[in-house]
Amino acid sequence: MSAVSDAVAGPVTPTGWDVATERRLWEENWHLFCHRSELAKSSEYFRLEVFGDDIVAFNDGAEIVVFDNRCPHRGARIYDDMAGKQRWVCPYHGWSFVKGRFFIPQKETFRDCDPTTAQLNRYDTAWVGDFLFISKAPNQSISEQLAGVEEIIASISRSIGMRRDLNAYSYHCDWKIAVENALDQYHVALVHHDTLNRLKLEPAVDEYIGSNNVSRAALGDEKTIKKLKSLSRLFDVEFKPEGYIAIQLFPFTFLTSTFGYSYSLQQFYPTSRQGETAFVSRFYSGALSSKLPPETMDAFFASSIELNHQIFKEDAEICARIPLSSWSPVPERFVCAGEDKIVEFRRLMREAAART
Ligand code: FES
Ligand SMILES: [Fe+2]
Repeated sequence: MSAVSDAVAGPVTPTGWDVATERRLWEENWHLFCHRSELAKSSEYFRLEVFGDDIVAFNDGAEIVVFDNRCPHRGARIYDDMAGKQRWVCPYHGWSFVKGRFFIPQKETFRDCDPTTAQLNRYDTAWVGDFLFISKAPNQSISEQLAGVEEIIASISRSIGMRRDLNAYSYHCDWKIAVENALDQYHVALVHHDTLNRLKLEPAVDEYIGSNNVSRAALGDEKTIKKLKSLSRLFDVEFKPEGYIAIQLFPFTFLTSTFGYSYSLQQFYPTSRQGETAFVSRFYSGALSSKLPPETMDAFFASSIELNHQIFKEDAEICARIPLSSWSPVPERFVCAGEDKIVEFRRLMREAAART
């Protein structure tokens, strides 16, 4: 049974449900792709697969280029891994691409054409501070899409030092289930009893800003607060949230932090395989004070990364218990305060479906 008929077969779906809506959410929105520091050197790249599209951002020695990971000659795939440093060289006939130009073996043998005029199939790009956003066919400007949160996002991007972890795997559930789980504060006490719950977060204060939202929650444990506050002098960060902050950039992206010393970027992308979500998480450390040796906080960051991995595993396990047929774009009948953001997410999904 298809995703479409699964959802439509639910009890009440006033607008119906169509997977084409989700493809539009992917194609027409801007999506946070990577941080400038991940592509700082020539030939560094970052790659993602979303809905069957294969997207690569890479540093061509002169600029950051985002393209569809195919060679414009006969379409061979260029990059295989998710991130790394590798020159753009096609493994099929050896075309290479440097500083905006193609270099082509046996160029003089091409008949009645100039192969150096070939173009990469590019995505639109936009920078918000040091974050690179991409879009396949944007229906609004990045500033329109991020109205009200653009400054926070830019400020966070300028507070980041480097990527310290890249952790990607499949969640065995539909992406909407994974996103709703990330919006759900109600499950934290039980599912993350020995991990996230140790922060003893107070109930979050949610702010809805356009399609995006910003949640802030105070930490409930005085000892932890004192310990974290004492670290402040080690960092040189512009953005300093008090306590815990979680930002959703609708629909697929979440950025979370405690005190701004590090950021967890979590994305839940639809794939071409029904019931599989491409989960991509990155851990960025905050910029350290320049007076400190770079390895000063290695142990602190390593333990945060390990804790995050455990939390994601707990989330993946619980999400795998929820079949897509449990989902519908209408609000649940029984909703508590910790699930308010899910109500808003479903409203946005109905709104997106209505814009056909
Ligand atoms: S397909 Fe890439 S060089 Fe021919
Ligand atoms: Fe969770």
